Amino acid sequence: MEEYILVEKGHPLAGEVQIEGAKNAVLPIMAASLLAKNNTIHLQRVPQLSDVETMAAVLSNLGAKVVRNGQHMHVEVPSILQTQTPEHLVSKMRASVLVMGALLALEGKVSVVLPGGCAIGSRPLDIHLRGFEALGATVQLSHGIIEASVDGRLQGAEFDLAFPSVGATENLMIAASRAEGKTILRGVAKEPEIIDLANFLNAMGAQIHGAGTDTIEIMGVETLTACEYEILPDRIEAGTFMIAAAITQGDVIIKNIIPDHLQPITAKLQQLGAKITIGDDWIGVQGNKDYQAIDIKTGPHPNFPTDMQSPMLAILLCADGVSTLTETIFENRFMHVEELNRMGAQIIVDGRTCIVTKQSLHGVRVKATDLRSAAGLVLAGLLADGETRIEKLYHLDRGYVDFVEKLQKLGAKISRHSS
Ligand code: EPZ
Repeated sequence: MEEYILVEKGHPLAGEVQIEGAKNAVLPIMAASLLAKNNTIHLQRVPQLSDVETMAAVLSNLGAKVVRNGQHMHVEVPSILQTQTPEHLVSKMRASVLVMGALLALEGKVSVVLPGGCAIGSRPLDIHLRGFEALGATVQLSHGIIEASVDGRLQGAEFDLAFPSVGATENLMIAASRAEGKTILRGVAKEPEIIDLANFLNAMGAQIHGAGTDTIEIMGVETLTACEYEILPDRIEAGTFMIAAAITQGDVIIKNIIPDHLQPITAKLQQLGAKITIGDDWIGVQGNKDYQAIDIKTGPHPNFPTDMQSPMLAILLCADGVSTLTETIFENRFMHVEELNRMGAQIIVDGRTCIVTKQSLHGVRVKATDLRSAAGLVLAGLLADGETRIEKLYHLDRGYVDFVEKLQKLGAKISRHSS
């Protein structure tokens, strides 16, 4: 059964929207929960997303018991864990590889099918694997299966990441938490989700310092214990609603967030011409009828986040002048451009840069190609004359909870159907 969204030119959105816990924080934290052997981890503010269900299935396949009750989740970790991650789940969600660090640290071995590339790029794991080797593991790759193992415990080491990979930083931080001795990771990712994972691990008794900076120091401990933890708010969901408010010239309060995590998006929306008000745990966005073209370049935090690239592209279509958007993280994250051009945009892709001019859009049938392009196409539909039909919604459901309902509550003319 194919589900699709119908959306029409948006009346100015108005009202308040509550933001969920962050997908990209809860997934590594769920993986790290495995470190609490013979203990139960309690997580609050867990978003109801298909990616979270997939990670729960991975943990269950490894022997943990995952119980959900609304936004609460608890993970009961047994004394012995399986070390083979289920192939069908890894190919469904590459974030499944985040269990490698915990399994290596606990059981001394792990085998994972090499996750293929995905729509947005090849997404290799070389930095993860070189890091595990630095910690004393032996890593072999044969017939598409990664086998990593270590005799005894991992050993603390110094390791420089070739690129500030979010997933590699997370996997290595988890592995080093239970290594023997001190680990120093340099050139690490500095995203807020990295800090949230470090805070979670420290709540379990880990000794991690420096998360959020270029260098993280970890003093390995023998055992990590139970804890209760609330996941940080989802800055990408929040940024998506900020753009929805601006694109419809609306007036929306985005609530239960950490405004500082939105700084790169706030700065760009202000530069465009939107009016932004910042509270302690909320941001107000008032749209404008005239926007000025801007230049955006994605990059590792604190630069403009790649996950906000496709939602942001939609609003550049309302800006006078010529805007550019350069994607520096993934090699193929412009597939939604073709769909936007079918709606009447005249975006030119020159290598890693999109050149965008103001165009009026008309609603047509479009297909989402990845999670963030799905959101970007909905935002474009709020701009387009007539009705836009967006298909392949399973992409959207990976990262947005009740996206249609939240937009409806703000006054959008949007509905979800199944054919
Ligand atoms: C995380 O993916 C996020 N996913 C992505 O969000 C996000 O786009 C990305 O970080 C960048 O911010 C989760 O947190 C679950 P990377 P990750 O390792 O960890 C290259 C979304 O929409 N690289 O920082 O896979 C890689 O090819 C998703 O929520 C290597 O070369 O991202 C890419 O070009 C999409 N070797 C770049 O680094 C490696 O070993 C960034 O990848 C690892 C990565």
